[in-house]
Amino acid sequence: MTVAFLLNGTPVRIEGEAPTRTLLDWLREARGLTGTKEGCNEGDCGACTVMVTDAEGSKALNACILFLAQLHGKAVRTVEGVSGPEGQMHPVQAAMVAHHGSQCGFCTPGFVVSMAVAHLNGARDHDDQLAGNLCRCTGYAPIIRAAEAAASEAVPEWMHADQLSLPQISSGVRGQTAPGAFSPRDSDELAEWYVANPDAVLVAGATDVGLWVTKQLRELRPVAFLGGVDDLKGIEVQGGQLHVGACVTISALRDAVAERLPSFGELLRRYASVQVRNAATIGGNIANGSPIGDGPPALIALGATLHLRRGDEMRSLPLEDFFLEYRKQDRKPGEFVAGVSFPEFAPALRCYKISKRFDQDISAVCGCFNVTAEGGVVRAARIAFGGMAGVPKRASLAEAALVGQEWTEATVDGAAEAMAGDFAPLSDMRASAGYRMLTAQNLLRRYFHDLNGVPVSVLEVSP
Ligand SMILES: Cc1cc2nc3c(=O)[nH]c(=O)nc-3n(C[C@H](O)[C@H](O)[C@H](O)COP(=O)(O)OP(=O)(O)OC[C@H]3O[C@@H](n4cnc5c(N)ncnc54)[C@H](O)[C@@H]3O)c2cc1C
Ligand code: FES
Ligand code: FES
Repeated sequence: MTVAFLLNGTPVRIEGEAPTRTLLDWLREARGLTGTKEGCNEGDCGACTVMVTDAEGSKALNACILFLAQLHGKAVRTVEGVSGPEGQMHPVQAAMVAHHGSQCGFCTPGFVVSMAVAHLNGARDHDDQLAGNLCRCTGYAPIIRAAEAAASEAVPEWMHADQLSLPQISSGVRGQTAPGAFSPRDSDELAEWYVANPDAVLVAGATDVGLWVTKQLRELRPVAFLGGVDDLKGIEVQGGQLHVGACVTISALRDAVAERLPSFGELLRRYASVQVRNAATIGGNIANGSPIGDGPPALIALGATLHLRRGDEMRSLPLEDFFLEYRKQDRKPGEFVAGVSFPEFAPALRCYKISKRFDQDISAVCGCFNVTAEGGVVRAARIAFGGMAGVPKRASLAEAALVGQEWTEATVDGAAEAMAGDFAPLSDMRASAGYRMLTAQNLLRRYFHDLNGVPVSVLEVSP
């Protein structure tokens, strides 16, 4: 395999590495760049955060679930490259010292890189920016104080260097991958190759697939890396619908829906962390068929249509019909997710994520509601849950108990009763079956009050 990228400003060319070798392992073992730490090796702790720059800008990513083959034509900056060429401290480093932002120091390089990327991008939502970095001993207050203090300092000149040097590294040849590994440049190339290699693993953001390698030690061959398939990265508005390509990241999707569908945007704020959202794609989130993924319940409540492609054939289906049973989807060999469409606006949509931690946690239950009432009568209802069945699933009996009825608390109570027939949830480490059912029923009641203007967020204190 040949992969070329900039590492801390210096061009590197890698030959002969396995395409699924992680950047973290390579940095530490092949380059001796041990500032990038290994904590969890599964995207949870941020100790391995690096800055990756491409045509879309600079972003923080977790190096532990980032494969070398995903880096071709990009620029990588590790904590060793955050300080200046003469050893000058970056403003966030100086602020971490001044505000006592480090004790044992293990998490510090990851924090510093996340903070430096946020500083470069002018991001001031420090709590969100650092939600994917775990510190076990300092406590977050001094770290947030350091981020706030650094925010008013100018971005050092050297932090712009990657963007300026990018054309030099990204021009020219595509990454030549090893036998059994392919980097398509558009969806036509992908479609042709995938029909010929239907057993292949598609790698989009690798926030699921990365763990198959780091935790399950799986060999992935053949494999296709979708990072270069630019025509699946578009977001278009047409006829009142948002058309979102499969390779759109959760970060880009969040930006697109934040104002149009604010409750969906808020749900995506709580989807993992900045580092994971910058890598994860909506296509991967749908295709993996997880019963606890956060994208599908919201999209099903919106009435989304999924677009699939196999060779030259395209087909579309309601998203809920894609999920057949636990980890089984309506996808033929050689068929891939091309995109998803859903209404641009849905004022009644509300998405509630219930998880043990507020930040960076998988849902125990995710309930998404979209009920239309006219003249006090329910005309349409779409209610979808994650965490309540082996697949993301609509609450059909609860919906039927609502439609045609008056939009009152009594009707909602009846629909909550009916919901008991919609699901037979499991007990697992996230929640018991009883907790899940009661929570789902109460989320419907919460939705009713929410639409009636009652404050329902426990994060907001009202007088
Ligand atoms: C620390 C951490 C936290 C997380 N938190 C959340 C969370 O809060 N909410 C949540 O929903 N998820 C969460 N996830 C799961 C993960 O981020 C999502 O499922 C993600 O959207 C997967 O997208 P990806 O692009 O990374 O997919 P990948 O890992 O690249 O692929 C996932 C699966 O989809 C297939 N695939 C990818 N693209 C396509 C395509 N276009 N067509 C067909 N098949 C395809 C792959 O072959 C693979 O089977 C978390 C993951 C991690 C590591
Ligand atoms: S080592 Fe924990 S996120 Fe990478
Ligand atoms: S300083 Fe010890 S884990 Fe953060």
